[in-house]
Amino acid sequence: MPQSWTQRNFLVRSAILEDIQDCKTIADAHRESLGFLVAAVFADAIRRDQLFVAAQDGQIVGFVRFNHRVRGDETALYDICVATSAQRQGVGRLLVQALTSSCRSHRRWAIVLRCPECLPANAFYAYLGFQRVAVEPGRRRPLVRWRLDLGGS
Ligand SMILES: CC(C)(COP(=O)(O)OP(=O)(O)OC[C@H]1O[C@@H](n2cnc3c(N)ncnc32)[C@H](O)[C@@H]1OP(=O)(O)O)[C@@H](O)C(=O)NCCC(=O)NCCS
Repeated sequence: MPQSWTQRNFLVRSAILEDIQDCKTIADAHRESLGFLVAAVFADAIRRDQLFVAAQDGQIVGFVRFNHRVRGDETALYDICVATSAQRQGVGRLLVQALTSSCRSHRRWAIVLRCPECLPANAFYAYLGFQRVAVEPGRRRPLVRWRLDLGGS
């Protein structure tokens, strides 16, 4: 049976192809933060088992897209997004908790990501214990590099 994580009335599970449109709707509403994500990006991530979704009463309210890197022992978090109506209820934290658990089972010992410096999401990563590693110039805006150490083997 596929793994899932629950907290309060939210459930996080691996995404299936039927989730693509809901993920895309949430992403499109946050285009300014995430950039433009086409449906093929979600389809590819689902085929590779690199997408978790959060659901409430069967309705998709968020997603995290990631890659357990083949080389090294890190996992790259590519995008995380929660529907505006479901924000500040612990969904983002549950998505990262699910990813952390998946990292440990894949023997990946750190989560790394880049976040535009201007976004409120930086406070979210700091709250979850990510370390602010550096600020780098991005194509459109400066990017903060974050790292969450999972205490390797
Ligand atoms: C960032 C995001 C995923 C957080 O999801 P969420 O479900 O709202 O986060 P949680 O409810 O788990 O928040 C956990 C804690 O993080 C911090 N936090 C979350 N969002 C925050 C914000 N906008 N501003 C300041 N702190 C924030 C708070 O400390 C919060 O705890 P609290 O609500 O008890 O104060 C969500 O705001 C989002 O989808 N944003 C738009 C897309 C985006 O910017 N993605 C990241 C691109 S790098």
